[in-house]
Amino acid sequence: MTREVDRRRTFAIISHPDAGKTTLTEKLLLYGGAIHLAGSVKARRAERHATSDWMELEKERGISVTSSVLQFDYEGYRINLLDTPGHQDFSEDTYRTLVASDSAIMLLDNRKGVEEQTRKLFEVCKLRRIPIFTFVNKCDRAGEDPLRLLDDVESDLGLRCFPVSWPIHRGNEFLGVYDRLAGTVSLFDRGGDHGARRAQVLAGGLEDQVVLDRLGDQVVARLRDDLELLDMAGSEFDADAVAAGELSPVFFGSALTNFGVEPLLRRFLEFSPPPPPRRTEDGAEIEPGKPEFTGFVFKIQANMDPRHRDRIAFVRICSGRFEPGLGVRNTRTGSLLRLTHPQQFMARERQIVTEAWAGDVIGIHDRGELRIGDTLSADGEVRFGGIPRFSPEHFARVRVADPLRRKQLDTGLRQLSEEGAAQVFHEDVQAGHTPIVGAVGLLQFDVLLHRLEHEYGARAMLDRLDYQFARWVDGPDADIRRVARGQGRLLVYDTRERPLILFGSRWALQHSEEREDALTFHSIAP
Ligand code: G4P
Repeated sequence: MTREVDRRRTFAIISHPDAGKTTLTEKLLLYGGAIHLAGSVKARRAERHATSDWMELEKERGISVTSSVLQFDYEGYRINLLDTPGHQDFSEDTYRTLVASDSAIMLLDNRKGVEEQTRKLFEVCKLRRIPIFTFVNKCDRAGEDPLRLLDDVESDLGLRCFPVSWPIHRGNEFLGVYDRLAGTVSLFDRGGDHGARRAQVLAGGLEDQVVLDRLGDQVVARLRDDLELLDMAGSEFDADAVAAGELSPVFFGSALTNFGVEPLLRRFLEFSPPPPPRRTEDGAEIEPGKPEFTGFVFKIQANMDPRHRDRIAFVRICSGRFEPGLGVRNTRTGSLLRLTHPQQFMARERQIVTEAWAGDVIGIHDRGELRIGDTLSADGEVRFGGIPRFSPEHFARVRVADPLRRKQLDTGLRQLSEEGAAQVFHEDVQAGHTPIVGAVGLLQFDVLLHRLEHEYGARAMLDRLDYQFARWVDGPDADIRRVARGQGRLLVYDTRERPLILFGSRWALQHSEEREDALTFHSIAP
């Protein structure tokens, strides 16, 4: 069991759209031998659209509403890469995936540095104190000064950096990287096949004649200066600080041409943690090597296959060994479940799992009994700390088309909110009964309307509200009400009757955060 747990790594890639996440994912799979020619994930995705049986909405939009879990092996490690939906399909699930990850790779575009979506996802990683590895991508073309990029990460995110590799340029031409831990230079070779195969890299020390000839005296002198500066002014490498999420090892490379991907993967595996113990609600810790199975539901996906109208609950295993037929208890309801046909996901392929351990993710069929955050345990009353709610950014009032269907609407909203498909709020009861829904990504609204109509028979309309930020507020009720009366604000309550204030602008939010000493504002609800 220890061997199986120790060789597992479960992580996610956090990035802003277009930084190259799909490309990097594909290259990681290439090294893991899961695919032989990079480019095929994208190609297959396009090809499968024609025959796909995904949710209608996915077909209409041509995007994936679901995020999948990619599992592959590399040099004895078993790697679970949890995909974080990023484009239009950015949603609360994207955040929740990070709650099931043990570490993250933060992917940056070398021209753009830290961008909005990266920043939001980083906040969740920070909250959980998981190790973060940074990959500065697209170095095959000229980008921002690397020192400025590091400074961006340090000042914007408050995350200290240790550049493990350092880019080498001649003017705008990218020549390769220097590995500060190994003391070697890897020379960049654009190659002829656009990174479709594993990169063949020529590497040597700074005394190696081939390396010196390729770089030339001027470039070598500049590199030595850079390295001296990094040694003097930068952080020292400290594996404990990396493990605590306080220091990010930084790598420079180019996913498209495969350059720097394998060194990233190797160092990542070396310094990232195997599945750690997981804390329960009452503060105890469940060791991953504990023989009895425990896990928690972090995502529920409805209607992946409309012919069966099934729901798949994604369960992150925290301890024990899973095998088909295992009996577990849902510790929230006390009901027994037999896990008969669990699945693992390789991109879009579903495979039946025969064995899984802490760190792995399995998908189980759910007939509406499971909720996000539920603990499944083969050993008594374990309850893991719940999955927080993340503050929505889009809001709308929901009206049902046929007033006689109001009951169906309420049932649908209640269930979909429990499932985590959207968040439901209400105003003070005097203000009326029209519910307000909130979503992290706009696509969640489309999914919500689709499901209300098809699963609950409640065709509904949304009236969008002009708020952009929501904060849960703690403090004296009178102060909360006073602040919420300000222009462009609205006081609402979530399904657990916790107050939130919606704000129409960042300015209004910051203004309140700065001036209201008696109140505390939370973007993530415990
Ligand atoms: P995403 O999933 O993060 O949204 O990014 P994706 O991998 O789709 O990459 C976004 C664009 O950036 C793609 O170009 C991709 O080829 C390019 N890209 C990724 N890695 C690198 C890199 O290392 N160097 C350079 N120069 N470009 C890179 P596109 O033109 O939008 O799409 P495509 O036609 O190549 O598919």
